[in-house]
Amino acid sequence: MGQAEPVREAMAHLRALFELGPGAQANRTSTHPSTGETKTCEHCGAPGEWVSYREGSGVWELTCRCAEEKAAEEDRQARAVQEARWQAEKLERLFEQSNLGPRFLACTFDAWRDRPGAAGAFRSARQYAESFEARQEDGRGLILFGDAGNGKSHLAAAIVNELVGRGVPCVFQTVPALLRRVRATFSRDSDASEEEILSALVEAPLLVLDDAGAEKHTEWGESTLYYLVDERYRHQLPVVVTSNLNLSGLEAAIGFRAVDRLIETCEMVEITATSYRQELARKRPRTYAEGPRA
Ligand SMILES: Nc1ncnc2c1ncn2[C@@H]1O[C@H](COP(=O)(O)OP(=O)(O)OP(=O)(O)O)[C@@H](O)[C@H]1O
Ligand SMILES: [Mg+2]
Ligand SMILES: [Zn+2]
Repeated sequence: MGQAEPVREAMAHLRALFELGPGAQANRTSTHPSTGETKTCEHCGAPGEWVSYREGSGVWELTCRCAEEKAAEEDRQARAVQEARWQAEKLERLFEQSNLGPRFLACTFDAWRDRPGAAGAFRSARQYAESFEARQEDGRGLILFGDAGNGKSHLAAAIVNELVGRGVPCVFQTVPALLRRVRATFSRDSDASEEEILSALVEAPLLVLDDAGAEKHTEWGESTLYYLVDERYRHQLPVVVTSNLNLSGLEAAIGFRAVDRLIETCEMVEITATSYRQELARKRPRTYAEGPRA
C-alpha cells in the first residue's frame, strides 16, 4: 500500500480544488474583482468565472464549470481504478492468484476444443465474460452443471482468466476449499480474520463457486454459504457456479434458500458432453514405457 499515499494526497488536493465548500462560494465572481475583466471559456464558450481558491490571497484564476466537471470526472475515474487495484491486491493476498492454480490458469477460451454437448455452454461462458460490465450492473450469474470432467470448471476458469486479464478481480474457489479457508480463520494464528475473508468474498466483483454440492455440508457450512450468496444477492454482485448436480440436487446439498437466490439471478446452462478426462486417458499410452499410440 506504500504507493497509495501520494495518489490519495493528489486526489485530496484535486477535491479541495474542485469541490469547493459553501464558504468558497464567496470567492467566485464573473468579473475580475480588481480589473473588472470578463472572459469566456475557451473550451465551451460559456462565461468564465474568477475563482480565488485561497481566501485573501488576492490570486484569481479563470475557471469554468466544464473544466471542473471534467476534472471531477477524471477524479472519479482515477478513484475507481485505484479502488479496483486495492481490491485486487487484497484478494490476491487473501486468495493467491484468484486461486486458479496452475491447471486452471491454462484453462482459457482459446484452449477450448469444440465437443458435442458443450458448444452452448462455451458460447454462454464466452458471452458472459464479454458482457461482464453489464453483469456487474444487473448482478446476473451463470450456473454450469453436468457430469464429471466435461469442462465446467474449465469454462468458469476461462471467464476468470479473461476478466483478471481485463483487471477485474475475481475469486475462484471450490466450495469445500472456500469453507476451509473461512474455518481456518478461527485458528489463533490465522493470518486473516473471518471478517476480512468474508468481506472479500462478498465484495469481489465475481465469485466463482466451483464444484458446489460436492460435499454434504454441516449446518455451519450451509449457513456460511447462504450468508455469502445472500449478501452478494443483496448487493447485486454476480456468482458463477459449477456443479455435478441439477437444481433439486443442489438444493439438497447447499440449501434451498441459497439455491433459490441463485436461480433468480443465474442463467442455468447444462453441459451434456462426455468426460474430457476420459477422452484424454484413452489417447494416453497405457504405460510410461510405451510411446504415444498412433
Ligand atoms: N472442451 C474442452 N476443451 C479443452 N479442454 C477441456 C474441454 N473440456 C474439458 N477440458 C479439460 O478437461 C479437464 C476436465 O475438465 P473440467 O475440470 O473443466 O471438468 P468439470 O466439468 O469441472 O469436472 P468435475 O465435474 O469433475 O469438476 C480439464 O483439464 C479441462 O481443461
Ligand atoms: Mg470441476
Ligand atoms: Zn467551459
